[in-house]
Amino acid sequence: MAQIIATTNMKGGVGKTTLCVNLAACLARNFNQRVLVVDLDTQISATLSLMSPQDFVKCRKEKRTLRQLISQAVQASEEPLHETADVIRSYVCQQKDLSLLPGDLDLYDDYMVSSALHRTAMAAEGETDFEGAWSNFERTLIQNILAPVDKDYDFIILDCAPGYNLLTRSSFVASDFYILPAKPEPLSIAGIQLLQRRIARLRQGYKDTPYPMDIELLGIVFTMSGNLFTSRYYNQVMQRVKQDFAEHQVFKTQIPNDTQVARAVDTFKPVVISNPTTAGAKAFVKLAGEFLQKRDFLMGVKEQKSGMSLAAMD
Ligand SMILES: Nc1ncnc2c1ncn2[C@@H]1O[C@H](COP(=O)(O)OP(=O)(O)OP(=O)(O)O)[C@@H](O)[C@H]1O
Ligand SMILES: [Mg+2]
Repeated sequence: MAQIIATTNMKGGVGKTTLCVNLAACLARNFNQRVLVVDLDTQISATLSLMSPQDFVKCRKEKRTLRQLISQAVQASEEPLHETADVIRSYVCQQKDLSLLPGDLDLYDDYMVSSALHRTAMAAEGETDFEGAWSNFERTLIQNILAPVDKDYDFIILDCAPGYNLLTRSSFVASDFYILPAKPEPLSIAGIQLLQRRIARLRQGYKDTPYPMDIELLGIVFTMSGNLFTSRYYNQVMQRVKQDFAEHQVFKTQIPNDTQVARAVDTFKPVVISNPTTAGAKAFVKLAGEFLQKRDFLMGVKEQKSGMSLAAMD
């Protein structure tokens, strides 16, 4: 089964999408992993980093985007037009083992979701538990979309929108790990702590249910670290990071500020494919190696924990 990784930060413009698509491309290209990128943001930046606008328009016309899958989940009673696998584009960027579940400019309509869930709650015999219907929908939405394909990949990497919307919360429930890209700036660090608090609260909500949440922090990645690297200001910020986070919570590899990384979008390919000799691309390859090491280490910890809790049940 695939490991599901959410790329997330409540703050916008910190390099989530760039990290998501380059990490995915590196894992496929340099480490022979089968990877699916899922674009959960209506800005469709991950989609347009991996396919041309013309190809995207075609997917949209054929209703082969995430929007269709969400709409089918909302209108649970109707015959689905597409299965998850029909919506996924494989061999994106002509890269073996790299696939994309394209996003959409509109993913869901709050009113439509609320009224469909209200109908579901009313239809349940004698029940009007709207809150229960909503939390059930939120818990299962992304899980149910990914479940039919998770055996086809080693990793499914989710590009979350900034903020903390329905799809982000549903992604957290579905994910094994999250990666937190951040700029080395004080506000960005405050944003990390805010998100961690939200995740802790979400986890608490599922604690005594049959569906405990299993998501763990894989690591914080500092991105777009420019000449800050040598400045006193950068050192002050990193000093604070050392105080606030354990060493294993932060990736040693940082992604430098490199215009080639940003320019790669014009080629509809991540920089690690379009221009692999640049400083940014090399940093992403190094990061992907560190990502795999951290994953192995944390999986060991998770297995130990679940072994201990099974032993406690004996
Ligand atoms: N290492 C880098 N060097 C130079 N530019 C970068 C780098 N990483 C990202 N960028 C640029 O910074 C901008 C923001 O990056 P990106 O879209 O990845 O952030 P984001 O957190 O996903 O944003 P949003 O919150 O809007 O989804 C983009 O224009 C991107 O091309
Ligand atoms: Mg983004």
